[in-house]
Amino acid sequence: MRAKTKLALLTTLTLLTGLACNTVTNMMALRDQADQPAPQTTATPSRETGRTPSLEDQPLPPNPNPGPVGLGDVYFEELGNGGYDVQHYHIVLEVDLPANYVYGRTDIDLVATQTLTSLNLELFELQIDQVLVNGQAARHSRLGIELTVYLPQTAHAGDALQISIAYRGVPGESREALPQHSQGWIHYGHGIAVAGEPTGASTWYPVNEHPADMATYSFSITVDTRYTVAANGLLQETERTNGRTTYHWALNQPIAPYLVTLAVGEFDIVESRGPGGLLIRDYFGRGVPAEVRADFDDTAEVLAYFETLFGPYPFDAYGVVVHDTSLNFALETATLSVFGRTFTDEFAVVHEIAHHWFGNSVGLEQWQDIWLNEGFATYSSDLWNEYAYGREFMEQGISELYQSLAGIAPFLETTTGDPGPQALFDFATVYARGGLALHALRLEIGDEAFFNTLQVYTANFAGRTARTADFIEIAEEVSGRDLGDFFDAWLFQLELPDIPQMGLYAEDYQ
Ligand code: TRP
Ligand code: ZN
Repeated sequence: MRAKTKLALLTTLTLLTGLACNTVTNMMALRDQADQPAPQTTATPSRETGRTPSLEDQPLPPNPNPGPVGLGDVYFEELGNGGYDVQHYHIVLEVDLPANYVYGRTDIDLVATQTLTSLNLELFELQIDQVLVNGQAARHSRLGIELTVYLPQTAHAGDALQISIAYRGVPGESREALPQHSQGWIHYGHGIAVAGEPTGASTWYPVNEHPADMATYSFSITVDTRYTVAANGLLQETERTNGRTTYHWALNQPIAPYLVTLAVGEFDIVESRGPGGLLIRDYFGRGVPAEVRADFDDTAEVLAYFETLFGPYPFDAYGVVVHDTSLNFALETATLSVFGRTFTDEFAVVHEIAHHWFGNSVGLEQWQDIWLNEGFATYSSDLWNEYAYGREFMEQGISELYQSLAGIAPFLETTTGDPGPQALFDFATVYARGGLALHALRLEIGDEAFFNTLQVYTANFAGRTARTADFIEIAEEVSGRDLGDFFDAWLFQLELPDIPQMGLYAEDYQ
């Protein structure tokens, strides 16, 4: 057991409340698709509309079976699109870091789930040079973030299609216009970070931007040889030609778009091994000091402990990228959590690891159920505290959190199970109360039923999406109890329930 005297939780509360290898590609071919010369690294790149006049000036084709705009998200009607299911994204980028300019091509393998004469994707602002469907030139139109691709032939349910989109520009240039103020592509001068939740993926590649459509990914990213590229999954190979290096990365487990990340910059790579020989590779920005790097020393131990609680680690590698810039958040991007040099406290380090079971492997069907990510990752830090510093320390944290929540409960307007789009990442509503609900559940049904519930949940829903009702059903089955009233009180009522087993009564703190 470790010595720890001071709680980091309240600091974290303050901080978090502020949040609201396929074929080798000839990169010159990406440029050749463009009708303008490559920008000089010193010049400001032009963002003229680069549409192909001959094709785009013709009237759009008849479209009797357009794919639905939106995926039925109750909070964000326009996010994601219906009528198909993406299997795989292959993202090819040539990145000019100093100019923050990209030439890109994304190949999207998808399966139609209905008759379609067009389908929609999300792509924010970037200039489109070419759209191909199964290798055939296709028309497109854009309205805000929505990109409509007109299929040269009508597709039917079960048909496999490959949509290939070539594009270029400065990603996320006017990000203020993005829904939910998500960031996505972040250029910080000497590096590029990617972090966007709930949206932000569409700042740099065309995507079905909703977690309900999970897919696998591969990347071929070309940069000047002085820079290093990290992305999700495993590095397959690197190719060096004429002062430039192409990094091929691939992730074999399906994930949501907001979990995709890319890091470009100058990094020190530190490799180690986790439980069962799991590859851990950390990318530390050159300027990130040793004290900050040391905050990640416990990674293997945290992973090993969480495997005993939650079941096998669901991906092929883990690690972090710590960018040499200050970021006031961390994000659980799959197999490579993103940090800045200023937000690396133990709560965040452990929290992002836990998300790999809760949120990354078991995905979200609806943004409304965000507590399935954040409440679970928050409680996971309590579980780590219990293991590393003792039950008493952990309970003290729970108790302090309970008291501060009881004090503010009368001012909260939405609930943990239905926080509304504005409070999606509200620390009190979603993180703290979500975490407390899990501790209360544990006290209610006992350790054995509680941890079995977690294991059944992670095993049953690995690689797919869950809803709150799925978790409740498993908890009821495993415990043999009717937990309807319990979950209703914790998740869907404003009033903070008591935790009698700990002598915690909300009215005592109001
Ligand atoms: N999921 C992140 C966490 O709790 C928090 C978060 C929400 C975030 N939206 C974001 C981080 C956007 C970066 C960018 O760990
Ligand atoms: Zn989180």
